[in-house]
Amino acid sequence: MSSTQQRGEYVPTIALIGCGAFAEVYYLPALVRFPGVAEKLILVDSNGARAQHLASRFGIHRCVDDYRAILGEVDAAIVATPHDLHYPISMDFLQHSAHVLCEKPLAEKASEAREMVAEAQRAGVTLSANYTQRLFPSSVKVKELLAGGALGKLASIHYSWGSLYTWPTASGFYFNARLSPKGVLLDRGPHAVDLICWWLGDRPAVVSCQHDSFGGAEAVAQVELSHGDCAITIALSWLNELPNEYVIRGERGEIRNGIEDWWRIPIALPSGKVHKIKLAHDEQDYFDFGRRLIANFLNVIRAGDKPLIPAGDVIPSVEVIEACYRTATRFAMPWYENLGTLWSPASAR
Ligand SMILES: NC(=O)c1ccc[n+]([C@@H]2O[C@H](COP(=O)([O-])OP(=O)(O)OC[C@H]3O[C@@H](n4cnc5c(N)ncnc54)[C@H](O)[C@@H]3O)[C@@H](O)[C@H]2O)c1
Repeated sequence: MSSTQQRGEYVPTIALIGCGAFAEVYYLPALVRFPGVAEKLILVDSNGARAQHLASRFGIHRCVDDYRAILGEVDAAIVATPHDLHYPISMDFLQHSAHVLCEKPLAEKASEAREMVAEAQRAGVTLSANYTQRLFPSSVKVKELLAGGALGKLASIHYSWGSLYTWPTASGFYFNARLSPKGVLLDRGPHAVDLICWWLGDRPAVVSCQHDSFGGAEAVAQVELSHGDCAITIALSWLNELPNEYVIRGERGEIRNGIEDWWRIPIALPSGKVHKIKLAHDEQDYFDFGRRLIANFLNVIRAGDKPLIPAGDVIPSVEVIEACYRTATRFAMPWYENLGTLWSPASAR
């Protein structure tokens, strides 16, 4: 069966909560490809004009501006709202026996994530998460290689992702400290931390976390973790380009791959030889992975398939990120710390 093949005829009623930038480029193009889904889809956004705009663009018949109006009416919900709403909105749908697919981060707090997973179990429905980089064939291959001991004992993992923030957010919530003062670590961090936890099959310990926040959303963060003898560093930035790659070093070789190079895995052997593994894939760009995810979500709803990313699997990453924020310190910024001296009455003379 291909990654997007469907089982069963029944078309569920799905609500897409949050019709922002990601819904537009990822969820809607994927949802409308599956026969009958668009006809029953409900778009929900507190900004009614935004939902209407996407409804006319994608041929959707029904829009609602308050999700509470449709609780109990839908088979499933996709939660693609600002981060602080993932927990309360998912809980409301789960309590009304709807299957939920929730965007990353599953929740801001591990206690909330655990409550969500427990609620899904209690209600007899599924809770899936979207940590897109897990869907990459390269990520799956890394997991397989590490589990098979291809690199031997691991010495280090480094993951860096930095580029100037240009994402066309519809609501601007990423920078709204009244909703959440958390920035790049809660936005890009879930992908990085989840991949590492998943690859290791365990939760690494937090050694340190530094970022540049003065109370609002941090734009740069540096995290150090450890797992046995393996030292892990994660560098994230919304301000500048970083080498967008991961480097995994073991006693028997090294994998160095671009984060979005999902079609290959190069392994450098101690001899200096590089073994290149090519991977089969249908996706041409990042947003195409929405098709794989939605195909699975439909099969989860109508045929009881296992979610590609069960929410319970990502809890270790929520725990790590929560611990990072709890222990975070600000980068040394001597130019700020010296401001008092610069503007003292003595320097003004
Ligand atoms: N997996 C990925 O690679 C990836 C990429 C981008 C964004 N995302 C995630 O998708 C989610 C949405 O991000 P975005 O960039 O589309 O944000 P956005 O700001 O573009 O859109 C958010 C939308 O939610 C709406 N909204 C706010 N409160 C609401 C409420 N109470 N009920 C219904 N709608 C409400 C806003 O009006 C807005 O239209 C976030 O969780 C983000 O982390 C994931």
